[in-house]
Amino acid sequence: MSERADALGRLRIRPYDPRRAADRAAVLDICLKTGDAGADATGTYADPRELTERYAAPYLDLEPGLAFVAEGPEGGDVVGYVLGAADTRDFAARFAARESSLSRAARAEHAAGMLLPEIAAFPAHLHVDLLPAAQGRGGGRMLVETLLDALRAAGVPGVHLSVDPRNTGALAFYPRLGFAEPRPTVFTRALSTTAHPTDPAA
Ligand SMILES: CC(C)(COP(=O)(O)OP(=O)(O)OC[C@H]1O[C@@H](n2cnc3c(N)ncnc32)[C@H](O)[C@@H]1OP(=O)(O)O)[C@@H](O)C(=O)NCCC(=O)NCCS
Repeated sequence: MSERADALGRLRIRPYDPRRAADRAAVLDICLKTGDAGADATGTYADPRELTERYAAPYLDLEPGLAFVAEGPEGGDVVGYVLGAADTRDFAARFAARESSLSRAARAEHAAGMLLPEIAAFPAHLHVDLLPAAQGRGGGRMLVETLLDALRAAGVPGVHLSVDPRNTGALAFYPRLGFAEPRPTVFTRALSTTAHPTDPAA
């Protein structure tokens, strides 16, 4: 199920639409506004693409089918997103090859950093971010669960991610969604691809 809404209709999840320039602009903006361990990174980088070309734009370009956005109630503005890569090893290779404002060496270094040991059993990874005004309303949970459904449908056996140790909110969030923390700040979740998607154990 790629569309979700909370009971009060305050947030609606839908697939990212590559044809809408506003979708892309919003994702890049939210990446920057949450890019300092969950806090606003505006002003931290002389060129914000240092952040967005690592953590947002490549996912929109290379894995658009695993990108979902949260719309708020007023005018349907995009207030959050989840971005995924189904096969991190393959994604890292494509990330390194993708031309961007980052140097070839910077892309190679970032790509190498994706190759955590967890990718063997949990090959997918994700990034989820909401603007501060949209946090704490269940949007993060809806976004992640939407992505997990898409990964299950694609037959992906598991997903992992790492969290900045300063990001106390995210460190509290992932365990609430059934993620394990096999080593500090790295989270994993197995995905049963045979169980029904609504099975909470899946
Ligand atoms: C972290 C983030 C994605 C969580 O999304 P959210 O919409 O705020 O969280 P939800 O409302 O869906 O909460 C889901 C569960 O996590 C818990 N949770 C979320 N944020 C929490 C926090 N800061 N402290 C404690 N628990 C938290 C909620 O209580 C809830 O638990 P429950 O469902 O068992 O009652 C969001 O706050 C965010 O975008 N933060 C800034 C960017 C960021 O840090 N991204 C993650 C980078 S790894």
